[in-house]
Amino acid sequence: MSSQAILAKNLKGKKIILGVCGSIAAYKSALLTRLLIRSGAEVRVCMTKSATTFVSPLTFSTLSKNKVITDISKNQDWNDHVEWGLWADLLLIAPATANSLAKMANGITDNFLTAVYLSARCPVMIAPAMDLDMWKHPSTLRNLKRLKEDGVHTINVEKGELASGLSGEGRLAEPENILNHLDIFFNQSKKLSGQKVLITAGPTQEKIDPVRYISNHSTGKMGVALAEVFAREGAEVMLVHGPLSTTLPDHPSILLFPVTTAEEMMNKCSELHSKVNLAVFAAAVSDYRLKKSSEKKLKKTGADGMSMELIQNPDIASSLGQSKTPGQIHIGFALETDNEEANAKEKLHKKNFDLIVLNSLKDKGAGFGGDTNKVSLITQNNVQKLELKSKTETAKDIVSFAYQHFIVKNK
Ligand code: C5P
Repeated sequence: MSSQAILAKNLKGKKIILGVCGSIAAYKSALLTRLLIRSGAEVRVCMTKSATTFVSPLTFSTLSKNKVITDISKNQDWNDHVEWGLWADLLLIAPATANSLAKMANGITDNFLTAVYLSARCPVMIAPAMDLDMWKHPSTLRNLKRLKEDGVHTINVEKGELASGLSGEGRLAEPENILNHLDIFFNQSKKLSGQKVLITAGPTQEKIDPVRYISNHSTGKMGVALAEVFAREGAEVMLVHGPLSTTLPDHPSILLFPVTTAEEMMNKCSELHSKVNLAVFAAAVSDYRLKKSSEKKLKKTGADGMSMELIQNPDIASSLGQSKTPGQIHIGFALETDNEEANAKEKLHKKNFDLIVLNSLKDKGAGFGGDTNKVSLITQNNVQKLELKSKTETAKDIVSFAYQHFIVKNK
């Protein structure tokens, strides 16, 4: 790696705690420390005891030009973890091992690093590293899910050759990629920095039996494009998504909350709603689910017909629309086949949206599946028809409309 050329513009003066856990990838954290320092950040390193078996604390104290803490009791004041937690602009844990993730997810503080984690008032970012089976283990996935719900930002692991000789997912992200994530994260000159956005995306799946479900053709592309544009403009995004048929976004300011059913989406959104300034309901939520799904695969009965009793799912947008607080902005979508504008306006009113994005299935290139969309942006007293364009360009128009009409006014 040539660290000469790689520098981050937005790290100057930032105070970063680098937590290093006991993985062979700890050697990459030495390079990362060098990149952080060269980018103008102030760095304090703390290491778990097992990390010191891979790399010497002297390496990090030399590179960071600061003392390194490795133990909760050795050579330190009893409340150093509190002072560190208040000092930092960011706690970055790289590499984060399965063991440390498990402790963090459960509030265990048996070393300095985990004590700093619980004391930190700043954002926390983790860059995990472990062998592929540990990475895929249900307990690791459970712990990661919990940490994400606690607001911890994750830098995805990379794929490739692992120290064990196996090949797969689990490699620590390369130091220059971690630096790039931090650079984006600290870019505060964006117009939406400080905004928190909830987005629903994709279809939901409602179980019929273990192999069948009720769903729809939504891919989630529009919601994902919106998440990416909001995040690029500086917002912190919480993306609650059903099973997507598109690539998941990879941005440090997008937290992913995967769900399957409408009820799960409702529960997750209710939990997050009070934390956000803006919510976009782009998911194609199944309106109905089975009153009782079957635990066993349904067999042909030989009869001509078959009936299933359906019950209504919660309407997430309507329900959260009722608990909207002053200053919160709600944006909805309407996919209509006839009487489009009138139906969309009625939904705007009924669901307490500030803006509704209307797709008409009559328009070529609009709606489900494709990479393009043709929409109208409808508010109480304004209808703006947009041209057919890519979903990303449409997302940019929606975000800039929301910025001009609502966010600037609320500032
Ligand atoms: O009533 P309709 O489904 O056409 O309304 C579409 C809008 O309502 C979209 O913004 C969609 O995400 C949202 N919605 C929801 N929960 C439902 C159904 C729709 O949030 N159960």
